[in-house]
Amino acid sequence: MWHGRFSKDPSERLRAYGESVSFDRRLALHDIAGSKAHAAALRKAGLITPAELKAIHRGLDSIGREIRAGKFKWREELEDVHMNIEAALTKKIGPAGAKLHTARSRNDQVATDLRLWMRDETKSLAASVRSLQKSLLALAVRAGDAVMPGYTHLQRAQPVLAAHHLLAYVEMLERDAQRLAGAARRADILPLGSGALAGSTIALDRRFLAKQLGFSAVSQNSMDAVSDRDFACEFLSACAICGMHLSRLCEDTVLWASSEFGYLRLSDEHTTGSSLMPQKKNPDIAELARGKTGRLYGNLVSLLTTLKGLPLSYNRDLQEDKVPVFDSADTLGASLGILSEMFGAAQWDKKRMAAAADDALLVATDWADYLVRKKLPFRQAHEAVGKLVALSIKRGGTLRDLTLKDLQSASKLFRPDALRCLDARRSLAARTAEGAPSPKRVAARLAWWRKHLSGRAQ
Ligand code: ARG
Repeated sequence: MWHGRFSKDPSERLRAYGESVSFDRRLALHDIAGSKAHAAALRKAGLITPAELKAIHRGLDSIGREIRAGKFKWREELEDVHMNIEAALTKKIGPAGAKLHTARSRNDQVATDLRLWMRDETKSLAASVRSLQKSLLALAVRAGDAVMPGYTHLQRAQPVLAAHHLLAYVEMLERDAQRLAGAARRADILPLGSGALAGSTIALDRRFLAKQLGFSAVSQNSMDAVSDRDFACEFLSACAICGMHLSRLCEDTVLWASSEFGYLRLSDEHTTGSSLMPQKKNPDIAELARGKTGRLYGNLVSLLTTLKGLPLSYNRDLQEDKVPVFDSADTLGASLGILSEMFGAAQWDKKRMAAAADDALLVATDWADYLVRKKLPFRQAHEAVGKLVALSIKRGGTLRDLTLKDLQSASKLFRPDALRCLDARRSLAARTAEGAPSPKRVAARLAWWRKHLSGRAQ
């Protein structure tokens, strides 16, 4: 494609080192869409005849069919997806194919392809986020009004509804879907027409091109357009953040599925055994999704690092953008898919949860609130209840074994009704503020999510 000024072929090693077709062939169908629009713009500018446009479109369509059917012969010596398709086109239709690259460079071409690809990919990832949300929502519904200990520092803190705990992840995933959509919005700008870096003396109608390809705007600086990959960084960042959320969800799952917690039972289909210990049932999916999050972070850091020292405008380093971007899309997509399935088949062990939630220490704060209602400053109330906790630990019983006399030794404000106040359900019912876990609030939020997610693919 460039041999005009060279007298020797590239070395074998350079070919193998520099080729990208082994991975950028994934952009093929978007490359074809871009080329079809470009050909239409060439026709509009009077640079090719209607017959040539027709031949180019037909040729590209038939190449597209071959690629989809897995019959296209990819040639590494042609370096990348763009040159493979162009060469195949020229072979198929003759001289008209050789006109296609007029007023275009692979630099604006690859930037266009990647943005088009990302537009589709973010849609399908967002749809996978939605289905995980739905699967978690269904698991939250299966929890009913089951109470479990809520934790801070992984120490039992206060009772919550299991549904409330799960809905926290549904909220996180919602922001993840929005982040993906935001990345797609900023990628929605046409670079084509920017040429290698400085446009072209042969001006094409870029707004026409944008319209053909469904972009909502046209880039305003040709040097920016061919060298910017911050849209890809945003995509990788959205994937990394979503991966971080999945990883935390998986960590909770690993804990819940352990004998120590025992709150959640994963189905046999989604767990593995041990080749050595016959009793084992391991939550491998959750561990793998947690582990793969490292890759998602790595991909983001990899591209940021590739970009940081590059002078304007295009540099070949930019070819290194694709592997991390594709890997993050695949890794995140696979994790989202398998986790939806896993949570779809998971079952609560409500007895285990209830036993854990019965711990009276979980509602110790409610005694402090009781004293506050009797006008004791919170700090003093906290200290009084702290003494009662210490007393019950010393005696080896629970808070419920303390007598009114014990209570009054810590504060004279305690009355007999304080003894009834150590109840998780009562405590929860009183947590009525917006966002708090009273059963009423949780039920309302569940209903809200059901409506919000129903019929929503992305
Ligand atoms: N394969 C290249 C890439 O991904 C396409 C652009 C090549 N441009 C060039 N001037 N060599 O970045």
